[in-house]
Amino acid sequence: MPVLMNASLLAVCPAEGGQGEIGSIADPALVWEGERIQWVGPAAELPAHFQALPRIDAGGGLLIPGLVDCHTHLAFAGWRADEFEERIRGVSYLEIAERGGGILQTVQKTRAASPAELAARCLHFAAGMRDLGVTTIECKSGYGLSVKDELKLLEVYAEVAERDVVTIVPTFLGAHTVPAEHRADREVYLQLIIDQLIPAVAARKLARFCDVFMERSAFSGAETRRIFAAARDHGLGVKLHADQLSDGGGAALAAEFGAVSADHLEYTSDAGIDRLREAGTVAVILPFASLYTREAPVRARRFIDRGVPVAVATDFNPGSAPSFHLPMALTLACTMSGLTPGEALKGATINAARALGLAREIGSLEVGKQADMALIDAPDVNHWLYHLRANACRRVWRKGREVSAG
Ligand code: NIG
Ligand code: FE
Repeated sequence: MPVLMNASLLAVCPAEGGQGEIGSIADPALVWEGERIQWVGPAAELPAHFQALPRIDAGGGLLIPGLVDCHTHLAFAGWRADEFEERIRGVSYLEIAERGGGILQTVQKTRAASPAELAARCLHFAAGMRDLGVTTIECKSGYGLSVKDELKLLEVYAEVAERDVVTIVPTFLGAHTVPAEHRADREVYLQLIIDQLIPAVAARKLARFCDVFMERSAFSGAETRRIFAAARDHGLGVKLHADQLSDGGGAALAAEFGAVSADHLEYTSDAGIDRLREAGTVAVILPFASLYTREAPVRARRFIDRGVPVAVATDFNPGSAPSFHLPMALTLACTMSGLTPGEALKGATINAARALGLAREIGSLEVGKQADMALIDAPDVNHWLYHLRANACRRVWRKGREVSAG
């Protein structure tokens, strides 16, 4: 049972309080035993019976909860750097999708990749993310788009989870887009999702959530409703890619189904924001996706001011967000979306945990929570997110064990 001492600051990131209330403790001490936090508070108040514990010297850094990346598309093969140049030249994401590029490009490559290849790539990415301070990653399927290939991706996530490098939360995103072979009759693909994939995924416990990309190039509101109804019937929670490229009423639909999160939200109306608040749905903003699709960034203050908790994630994928650097996404959430650094930190800890239904387990440094922590080379949160570096994270612990030396 160790005690960590001599941090300049500890950010508790409690669920209670406003988005910016991170619960700073100056000169803190944190005690854990096994996988769980036992005590946290000012070092001066450390109880006598903890005084003799082996000490870990934080060397004056900032101690934060292990970061939670609550929206990624981790398992994919290939990249799409050619489309990056096209988009810079002015071709839009939707135009590229309409002519069979975009997601469908990645589907072809991902179908051709073996599970071992995909798992090795996921593990490589996950190790890179963990070294940045990330201890939990939500991972979506969605580049298989057939019964066999969607199950293959979710099985890859199960295998990666077993390696226990980070905590993996798998999400079924068979409704990412309609695959080429079903474009002439999309109803066939919908039936395949509803009658075959959702029941199989739920029965085999391969995912906790079902997600849909509700957009002109992907699925309509009516189709999303049918998919969510099936997911609900099979006990899966729901999440939604909503209002990314146009206001399709996605936020309100997510709220109607009690979604844990609605993600993207570049075009969400004020009425949609109010529905999210009423449903207790977390708004997940994805700064890399706005940056790379060259859409106007989400004005996150609109959500916070209307009482909706905001989370920030990378959306790591080969098209719209080819980076897994969550701390950089947090800096962008500040500069592009108007979050303060403290608000951004809560967006990648407790609010991100909430967007995964895990707020009782992870996301804050409180007694009883899993001992997932990152030690940052900065005196405070402002300094961390302002002085952007390749990696400001010095040490990472997950379930009480040190897993990275930065
Ligand atoms: O979240 N919006 C839909 N899906 C991804 C993009 C996936 C891709 O372009 O490959 C996203 O941005
Ligand atoms: Fe996404």
